[in-house]
Amino acid sequence: MKNPHLVPAALTCVLLAAASSTLAAEAGDAAAGKGKNAMCVGCHGIPGYRTVFPDVYHVPKLGGQHAAYIVKALQEYKSGNRSHPSMRAIAAGLSDKDMADLAAYYASDATKSAAK
Ligand code: HEC
Repeated sequence: MKNPHLVPAALTCVLLAAASSTLAAEAGDAAAGKGKNAMCVGCHGIPGYRTVFPDVYHVPKLGGQHAAYIVKALQEYKSGNRSHPSMRAIAAGLSDKDMADLAAYYASDATKSAAK
């Protein structure tokens, strides 16, 4: 008899491969991302800023993070693999293209904010 544990493992591999090919297909446009970040800066644009509802959270800095990391984080919020009420609601409204553009924008902004 075949090992039943191999089936979910194989399925996971297929899903991961599908997810990474989606990432590779989307090339982010930093200029477009700049236009889309208006709703992010309220929380992510202020150094040391914390959201106050429903609890006090540190808001992570996005500028300077790797684009692939930002896209992955947003996809995880959207899919529910990461849970945070505000970010889940926000990521749910973003397309793959929006995520790629925003990630490209934040990744490109890195050098500027580091120089300040
Ligand atoms: C209501 C405030 C708020 C808004 C608006 C907001 N965020 Fe967030 N974001 C947060 C908080 C708080 C976290 C940390 C959540 C956690 O601990 O998982 C976070 C986490 C993230 C992360 C993960 C960072 C990391 O280091 O793991 C990314 C990426 C992100 N936000 C991108 C965005 C983008 C892009 C937008 C605009 C489309 C946006 N956020 C708008 C509050 C906000």
